[in-house]
Amino acid sequence: MSNILLVGNGAREHAIAEAITRSRQNPRLFSFMKANNPGIASLSEKIKIGSYSDLDAIAGFAKENKIDFAVVGPEDPLNNGVVDKLAKSGISSVGPTKSLARLETSKSFTRNLVNKYNILGNPKYKVFEVMDGVEKFLSELEGIVLKPDGLTGGKGVLVQGDHFSTRQEAVELCARILKDSASVIVEEKFDGEEFSLQCLCDGVTVVGTPLVQDHKRRFDGDKGPNTGGMGSYSMPDHSLPFLQPSDVEQGLEITRQMAAALLKETGSPYKGVMYGGFIATKDGVKLLEYNARFGDPEAMNILPLLKTDFVEICQHIIDGTLDKLKIEFEHKATVCKYVVPKGYGLPADHPDAASSKSKIEVGDVGKARLYYSSVDKKEDGLYLSSSRAIGIVGIADTLDEARKIAEEGVKAIKGPVAYREDIGTQTLIQKRINHMKNIRKE
Ligand SMILES: Nc1ncnc2c1ncn2[C@@H]1O[C@H](COP(=O)(O)OP(=O)(O)O)[C@@H](O)[C@H]1O
Ligand SMILES: [Mg+2]
Repeated sequence: MSNILLVGNGAREHAIAEAITRSRQNPRLFSFMKANNPGIASLSEKIKIGSYSDLDAIAGFAKENKIDFAVVGPEDPLNNGVVDKLAKSGISSVGPTKSLARLETSKSFTRNLVNKYNILGNPKYKVFEVMDGVEKFLSELEGIVLKPDGLTGGKGVLVQGDHFSTRQEAVELCARILKDSASVIVEEKFDGEEFSLQCLCDGVTVVGTPLVQDHKRRFDGDKGPNTGGMGSYSMPDHSLPFLQPSDVEQGLEITRQMAAALLKETGSPYKGVMYGGFIATKDGVKLLEYNARFGDPEAMNILPLLKTDFVEICQHIIDGTLDKLKIEFEHKATVCKYVVPKGYGLPADHPDAASSKSKIEVGDVGKARLYYSSVDKKEDGLYLSSSRAIGIVGIADTLDEARKIAEEGVKAIKGPVAYREDIGTQTLIQKRINHMKNIRKE
């Protein structure tokens, strides 16, 4: 029987905790969280609350409980080097070392690696540490995207047309980014449809999982500010309705080559999740970024579909034997809808902005699955924080059934909350299909 440490406290980790505790090996789960997630707590033998930068506390908790291996959910502890720290105590992890986590934590590292190893998928780009040359390079680009180097919680990237309009503004924004970040990546803007391909990697073998599309914008119709993700869906065929089979294969191939490049570049195997954020364009699949972990919400789409024992997968990742394991997912559709405080993602002066700290009631979610994210469990009930509160997931044979199940589930959460009704609807999917058709015709 294994003792497994889970680091993280979001809905993604609630889904991971569920996958771990479903294992036929009957593992015991020990969870280190920065805030008490009632879903994770209910599945855990023991929990500890602490900071993700307190590596001594995490390693201490692991040793105390004779942990066999760890699964690290979020990017912050990876960036802090929790995997390196645990390794010093002889504990292996599903999750990359600090150096390998640069795949996510440094967008310049990843762009330069793609470039150096002649992997396809990069935009035209340049990394600047000072303003010299920025203006000239901007004038060579038709559409512009600016990315600060480093973790920004999904809120640092600036896209022309969304966040700014003119080249002159881009120049000013670069100067502003360079005040806080060591460097800024200036890159070509792509037109297309985005998708998430979360791959499992043992350092050599890369295994794809069902593709997922996330919805970053706060409001229906992809309107409003960007968020951590309002929800996501996946299809029974494990592809997405606007993609061609070659798109999926290209995303996988880029990731395989990246795993090989990481091994060559650093000398150490990347063990964990390589989550490629891709965009299908008229010229094929392009890479937007990598994350060094499962997506949140995307983990909730794929982990419940796993037919293979997740603990066994983790053991094969750690042992470097993923090639020996057949990893299977159910052929079902999934729709995840995030229930968020009404004021989530809105500017502080917005009338709805103060909805956090309110109490919510969780009723019967029916056939849906419920994954807790940022809620505060007090003696007199459940309270909202300022972040996403609960992920509700519908799983069924068709997308529409899955959507209906999720929708029913969402209605069981009472309080000053909001969600996106359009996720998983045929109207929205058709919009994406038409968008790709138009682009491919051009
Ligand atoms: N080169 C690009 N072309 C078009 N859109 C982009 C490009 N790079 C990023 N974006 C947009 O910005 C979003 C955030 O960028 P991403 O690189 O994923 O960073 P992060 O998730 O860290 O904010 C993407 O989901 C995409 O919508
Ligand atoms: Mg992203």
